Amino acid sequence: MRTPVMDTFGLEAPIFAFSHCRDVVAAVSRAGGMGTLGTSHVTVEQLEIELSWIDQHAEGKPYGVDVQFPYGQPKEFENLTPETAKQYLPQEHRAFVEALLKKHNVPEFSREESEKVFRHYMENLTRTHREAERRVEVVYRHPQARMIVSALGAPPAHVIERAHSVGLKVCGLIGHPKHAKRQADAGVDIIVAQGWEAAGHTGEISTLVLVPEVVDLVAPVPVLAAGGIGRGRQVAAALALGAQGVWCGTVWLGTVESEVPPELKRKLFAATSSDTLRSRCSTGKPARRLVSAWVTAWESPEAPKTLPMPLQSMLTNEALERITKYKPDALLTYPAGQIVGHLREETTVKQVVYDMLAEFSDALDRLNEAVDR
Ligand SMILES: Cc1cc2nc3c(=O)[nH]c(=O)nc-3n(C[C@H](O)[C@H](O)[C@H](O)COP(=O)(O)O)c2cc1C
Repeated sequence: MRTPVMDTFGLEAPIFAFSHCRDVVAAVSRAGGMGTLGTSHVTVEQLEIELSWIDQHAEGKPYGVDVQFPYGQPKEFENLTPETAKQYLPQEHRAFVEALLKKHNVPEFSREESEKVFRHYMENLTRTHREAERRVEVVYRHPQARMIVSALGAPPAHVIERAHSVGLKVCGLIGHPKHAKRQADAGVDIIVAQGWEAAGHTGEISTLVLVPEVVDLVAPVPVLAAGGIGRGRQVAAALALGAQGVWCGTVWLGTVESEVPPELKRKLFAATSSDTLRSRCSTGKPARRLVSAWVTAWESPEAPKTLPMPLQSMLTNEALERITKYKPDALLTYPAGQIVGHLREETTVKQVVYDMLAEFSDALDRLNEAVDR
């Protein structure tokens, strides 16, 4: 099978992957799809190292890079330093977080470790367009990187123009038709229409409803379907809805290549499709993650109201680092979409791609048989 967007990048499978893990990105590209690296937690220097690594491990295949261009944050937050940031984090919120960790016997960090973690977090945060552009400058130095993806709003016009002038495609990830229109009008080349089943920041419209609406709205701009896709039958459904490919995140979490530690993988494999929750608890914007006592505590009536982006993640970053380090089972959580219920045991990226294509082919046979009757 071929779709125009596959031809654009010379792909053998209509499968696009989002991952913060370079091993997953390179493996998906090697398997004939296209991996895209999330950069929300890497410095500009680290990004250069990550992309050089992918260049060496993707066997000449194309890949993408996801860069967040932040929108709608109050100007005063742009210049926060590790020293000034803490004054925006209310005592009530800090006490809530501390009490929750204490309840689950999570040890404290030393003062030194705590400051180091916070400083590191603040330095890596992409808070301004200028910081996002510095990351895009790195992408320009890596010709195998063929696409930049922006999730929280379209990149500014001059960035889109410059990306096009060096042969890069620009892709916008959206969760609502009005955002799709805005991105298409801004000149992006591909739209990812992500339904509410998805991991990470999501809107409120399901994939089945969102994709055809966006396909019609932005035509002839190609659309990739995202949210709840991890099996071949879902790929067939996405193409039937008018998408030219699929964009997946959750399905890679259970692979040997993924960054997810073993104790969290065990929780993901045990989870059902109803074990995720869309909550503002990690970033201040609604995002879907695996349910745990950390998530449900924030949804309880005793919880303080979550802070706006980027303050909520400044508030919770150290707590999540402590949860990652000390691994209290009840609190362990990770961004995950509803397709998590399909993950049962560790596998490889290559196997995931193979299984999706095999089931896709069976689905087409079944549909053809039904039509021929
Ligand atoms: C662990 C994880 C982290 C994510 N972080 C981001 C991110 O930083 N930026 C982004 O654009 N999308 C992010 N996403 C969302 C993916 O890009 C993708 O749209 C989503 O996973 C698709 O739905 P699915 O999870 O049902 O496959 C993340 C997804 C996962 C699983």
